[in-house]
Amino acid sequence: MPRSLLLLLLLAVVFLPTHHASVDFTRQPPRPLVYTYHDGPESHPQQVHVSLVGKQYMKISWVTEERNVASIVNYGKIPGKYDSSATGNSTSYHYFLYTSGEIHHVTIGPLDPATIYYYRCGGSGPEFNFQTPPVNFSIEFVVVGDLGQTEWTSSTLEHINASNYDVLLLPGDLSYADTQQPLWDSFGRLVQPYASRRPWMVTQGNHEQEIFPIIYPKGFKAYNARWPMPYEESGSNSNLYYSFDVVGTHIIMLGSYTDFSVDSDQYKWLMNDLAKVDRSLTPWLIVLLHAPWYNSNMAHQGEGESMRLAMEKMLYDSGVDMVFAGHVHAYERFTRVYANNAAPCGPIYITIGDGGNREGLAMAYKEPSPSISLFREASFGHGRLRIINETHAHWSWHRNDDSASVVADGVWIECLSSLPSCGQIKGKVPKHDEL
Ligand SMILES: [Fe+2]
Repeated sequence: MPRSLLLLLLLAVVFLPTHHASVDFTRQPPRPLVYTYHDGPESHPQQVHVSLVGKQYMKISWVTEERNVASIVNYGKIPGKYDSSATGNSTSYHYFLYTSGEIHHVTIGPLDPATIYYYRCGGSGPEFNFQTPPVNFSIEFVVVGDLGQTEWTSSTLEHINASNYDVLLLPGDLSYADTQQPLWDSFGRLVQPYASRRPWMVTQGNHEQEIFPIIYPKGFKAYNARWPMPYEESGSNSNLYYSFDVVGTHIIMLGSYTDFSVDSDQYKWLMNDLAKVDRSLTPWLIVLLHAPWYNSNMAHQGEGESMRLAMEKMLYDSGVDMVFAGHVHAYERFTRVYANNAAPCGPIYITIGDGGNREGLAMAYKEPSPSISLFREASFGHGRLRIINETHAHWSWHRNDDSASVVADGVWIECLSSLPSCGQIKGKVPKHDEL
């Protein structure tokens, strides 16, 4: 039996899962876990994924089982011809009996927009390629949460890959390793064919916490080591919340599982970040977080409420266009909302926690449906946000109907900063005494 599998079984016996379904709802039967292996030499890269760093740079992350592999990426615009290279650094971590492989991170650039780059990691192994985002509209985001690594996950990823997109946004719950560290490796190998080709920008969910009292009280050890996001570039001091710009869109990733109270670093960072947004440069303003603030599913009721109470007014006053969440394993789209009521200048709230995790779907909803909830369904799938220009975008939800990807919900969205009736939010900087 492979050592990693033995460790996995041992840890499964030792630790209870960190996340339990409420007894108030039942879930559709989940599909089996997919464990993905590395069958190359120990020096070859595995778990390759890329993420945006500023407007012209990309971070390449990968793992090698061999320790003495250089953190170098060779790259260029022609397959097999690498006229540029960059070096970075590597790290590893321990979690009880588990020791990770060598985790490499190398930032490359400056890169041209809308261009395919071919690259090799660590000087050996197969060639990969990715495409950089465009510099002008339009741009297409895939949004998918609570991904996991089951047969449903594989189905969702195939559907995502079936048509082109520029950047993937993940509002938390990646591997569902839940302290079983080899599952982080397996997840990295499962998503490599997709995450090595387009930037994946993620934020954390409850399944990334992996807190163990006294020994690992702060948690997020594996997540921070494996999925570092460009937080320093946005003035954040934590990988758990950050922001970035891409093609006229300012995207803010918040942390549902780190302090968000008025006195917290995250709160102060968000206030400063929103104050810096220039809607003439980034007309679109989008937020992702894990535990939804609006949710008419019976699952996880009220879990996002304290964060909503702390931060909702700040987002509303800044004219946030959309707020995406995960956590609830279903799809739900709300109208524009503020303080529990329909509001023409409030954000559209969308729950997209139906990527394919091992826990199955959240099937039961509150009845009757609240008037602010416009579409809700417990099915696996993913979403796509195509921002056409400064004023219009199209959102669609693609249901995994077994083998077919079905478009089940779609809506045109007008950018709040372009609506005369919401003109008061343009360039508005929330002041602390207004909050
Ligand atoms: Fe979750």
